[in-house]
Amino acid sequence: MVEAAQRFNSSGLWGLGSFPVVRPRRLRLHRYVRGLVAEASLDPSRFILPVFVEEGLKAPRPLASLPGHMKYPLDGSLVEYVSKALEEGVRAFLLFASPSLRDFRGSKAWDPHGPAQEAVRLLRRELGWEPVVFADVCLCGYTEHGHCGYPRETPRGVMIENDASIDAYARTAVSLAEAGVDFVAPSGMMDGQVAAIRRALDEAGYSEVGIMSYSAKYASSFYGPFRDVMDSSPRFGDRRSYQMDPRNRMEALKEVALDLQEGADIVMVKPALSYLDVISEIKKAFPWAPLAAYNVSGEYLMVKAAAERGYVDHDSLMLEILYSIRRAGADIVITYHALEAARLLREGRVPF
Ligand code: PBG
Repeated sequence: MVEAAQRFNSSGLWGLGSFPVVRPRRLRLHRYVRGLVAEASLDPSRFILPVFVEEGLKAPRPLASLPGHMKYPLDGSLVEYVSKALEEGVRAFLLFASPSLRDFRGSKAWDPHGPAQEAVRLLRRELGWEPVVFADVCLCGYTEHGHCGYPRETPRGVMIENDASIDAYARTAVSLAEAGVDFVAPSGMMDGQVAAIRRALDEAGYSEVGIMSYSAKYASSFYGPFRDVMDSSPRFGDRRSYQMDPRNRMEALKEVALDLQEGADIVMVKPALSYLDVISEIKKAFPWAPLAAYNVSGEYLMVKAAAERGYVDHDSLMLEILYSIRRAGADIVITYHALEAARLLREGRVPF
């Protein structure tokens, strides 16, 4: 259709005519008209709020590198936080847990009484099936070495053992399913992680538990504040042998295609902002696949830091960013801004 119209009108304007007949600004004069013709929408039902818990904590602990967020103990304060979010219209949560003890294998990750499992049980007991609970599946917060898989010395340096690591992910996923999660979210960028988890969940009788895969997760500097919170930086080496190279766009299509084939229900791009092109490319290639984008800790902290210095208007910058992620093609936005953005949207304080 478009091609035919283009051929019809050599000006390339598809027979629209041009100035002064056409004045695009007419649609920008009135706030409600702008709303009528706005292409991207934002609604708290699209948000996933990351939530942090820590085993053995006595009281909620404010997180300096994620202002406005806390680490919660496994008690009523966590339940209260989640139920308050539910009231604000944020209904989906991504759980990150820290154990009190780590070992080489990260065995607390799949311990039936590990902090993630206990947190899920607590939420289910107190709030039933109302919150949609996603749980991160990885080893970096559970291992002494801080890698997302098992490192091994080789002549070419430290290698991460892919296949042993995905066995651990599969075991972790099953234990989280037993505790009552809706979705597991493998974030370690091991090959075959989705297939291994899908098979294990199905074999254990959890075919209804879904997988949101961190499909295109880049080796990014934007994770700094998160690693500070989780104390999950690798103690040696880095993550470049398993996370994606920031220079690559098309490779993300391959990662997503593989994850979808392995049974991922939702795929994800992470971080969001420096990778809006990747989000858009994936949406175009797989329009039927639910796509999440993770607006990560460093992106969040940059907004907070710039606003604190008075260089930017916090609320409008935040919404501009969240809309840009939706405009690029993400269906779901995982963001530390979820609660404050939900409040603004509910009050109709959209600055566009
Ligand atoms: C761990 C993991 C990371 C994040 C979520 N899960 C970071 C990493 O690779 O170290 C980052 C989240 C954020 O920065 O907000 N596999």
